[in-house]
Amino acid sequence: MRQSLLPAGRRARRTRKAGLLSRPSALAERIERAHALDPVVQGLSDTVVRALPAGPRADALHGVPFGQPAHPALVRLPLGCWTSAVLLDLFRGTERAAGVLIATGIAGTAPAAATGLADWSALHRDQQRVGLVHAVCQASAATLFLGSLAARAGGRTRYGRALSAAGLAVATIGAYLGGHLALRLGAGTSHAEQVSHLSGLGWHDLCGLRELPDRRPVRRQLGYLSLLVYRQGSEVSVLSDRCSHLGGPLHQGRIVVERGAACIACPWHGSTFVIADGAVVHGPATARQPSFETRVTSDGRIELRPRP
Ligand code: FES
Repeated sequence: MRQSLLPAGRRARRTRKAGLLSRPSALAERIERAHALDPVVQGLSDTVVRALPAGPRADALHGVPFGQPAHPALVRLPLGCWTSAVLLDLFRGTERAAGVLIATGIAGTAPAAATGLADWSALHRDQQRVGLVHAVCQASAATLFLGSLAARAGGRTRYGRALSAAGLAVATIGAYLGGHLALRLGAGTSHAEQVSHLSGLGWHDLCGLRELPDRRPVRRQLGYLSLLVYRQGSEVSVLSDRCSHLGGPLHQGRIVVERGAACIACPWHGSTFVIADGAVVHGPATARQPSFETRVTSDGRIELRPRP
């Protein structure tokens, strides 16, 4: 049997490297745990939070008016344009069209970056580490495409094409990390419980009306579901307790009044939901909080069922 002549340490490093390359998710997982990135993450996150106070501008960047994060839709423009430009480079006589596509893609990075930064500033630290590397990749890709445009304008078309190809490769790595962030780490997806799957059909008994404090949010359990319950006199509102943004405990949040309606503000990142029906008033959450219809029986028991 042939033995490797490499020392054990180098062999282990080489095996680890091969593992990372053959399974890109392992590399993304290492980035999640890369504490060395934390000073940069902290500094940038503080800057974004200072520059983007809660309000209509932040809500628009998070995608609150659209009912889902705006960033994934906006990144399609630069990635689509750049991919098309690199494909056009394979054919003769397409220099002008490729240049227009590259320039359009570069222009599209501004809204993509603004929405991405807004979402990124309200993530958990492991998500922010991956998000930082994702952003660095996309910024590098934009720089390479800018260089490509300059090279083409200066008549160095071959060099410009090489820069475009490199830019697309870097953008693809960035897109992979963006996918890891959204699909594996759940940034941008709703974290509220799947109420319709977890509660049975029909009305369910919750508790007696008098067992609930007045105008103070409390947590109650209904089977697998954690609920935020809020009583105002004889009116009871019930929402799923896990915030749709990243699963924060809503019953620990603050009651605020927005547009004349009682709302709950999440203790983690301040997402604000109308307590009567779970509508989003302020982000970063974009998904409505699942809510329940309630009724009080003649013997003072509260019953509820998921709102359709
Ligand atoms: S978990 Fe982020 S706002 Fe609720």
